[in-house]
Amino acid sequence: MADKGLLDGKVAFITGAAQGIGLAVANAFIAQGARVMLADRAGDQVAQAAGELGDAARAVTIEVTDEKSTNAALAGTLDQFGRVDLVVPNAGILLLKHAVDTTPEEFRQVIDVNLTGAFITARTFARHLIDQGEGGRIILTSSLFGLRGGRENASYSASKFGMVGLMQSLAAELAEHDILANCVCPGQMNTDMIRQLFRDRAQLTGQTEQAVRGALEGRIPVGHLGPLDQLAGTFVYLASDLSRYVTGQSITVDGGWQIG
Ligand SMILES: NC(=O)c1ccc[n+]([C@@H]2O[C@H](COP(=O)([O-])OP(=O)(O)OC[C@H]3O[C@@H](n4cnc5c(N)ncnc54)[C@H](O)[C@@H]3O)[C@@H](O)[C@H]2O)c1
Repeated sequence: MADKGLLDGKVAFITGAAQGIGLAVANAFIAQGARVMLADRAGDQVAQAAGELGDAARAVTIEVTDEKSTNAALAGTLDQFGRVDLVVPNAGILLLKHAVDTTPEEFRQVIDVNLTGAFITARTFARHLIDQGEGGRIILTSSLFGLRGGRENASYSASKFGMVGLMQSLAAELAEHDILANCVCPGQMNTDMIRQLFRDRAQLTGQTEQAVRGALEGRIPVGHLGPLDQLAGTFVYLASDLSRYVTGQSITVDGGWQIG
């Protein structure tokens, strides 16, 4: 007999799932018995990623800032799996620039993808969860920089703080439908986004990428970037029955960065 998974019978929808954190969460959910729709604007890449995950995974191309695209992704999920239980608005972009050098257009774009995109995903799927009438979970990927600001982070940090506010409102409004909403706030995880940060900060400060990485890792009490499988465990916890009384929370997974 197969082992009992924490997410047996559940269907998850994850944005930004072609790579990095979203793909790691898809992997972890499937390992616990869920079936997963991986959604990303990188259509070929997300299709390949889902193919490699096997029968429990499907892929859909999505632009999270576009409500029509999100509606189509919901329809595709229901078509493939017949239901949805777990929603992970995770797609995001990073802009590393001083506030005074950030143009209003750049600021709007980061807010549009990270915050408005998360809102559109959460809204679209929450409306379905309410109609489905069996509860559900919304787990947003915010950031350490959704809890505190930092240098070269104005637009990103504003978008990630916004996600925490969005999540708290969703938690307050949806609890009566047994829909729980929480944020995971990662520190520095080993993905393309953090490698982009090394490159951009090196360019901004005139240091080498290696020096930037060394300085950053030196600030993390556990001494290294976050492994994705260890971050994904927090998403599994928030998706599972282990966290039935947890809603409206922001859980930091940062190797001790905040207290270091
Ligand atoms: N890597 C970190 O250290 C870190 C830390 C804190 C928070 N985060 C957050 O975690 C999330 C995932 O980050 P990651 O490190 O895996 O990044 P990543 O760049 O590896 O992956 C992001 C994915 O989102 C997709 N995406 C971007 N814009 C999109 C859009 N408009 N519509 C649909 N898909 C879109 C990209 O195609 C990509 O596949 C992001 O929200 C990021 O802000 C990352």
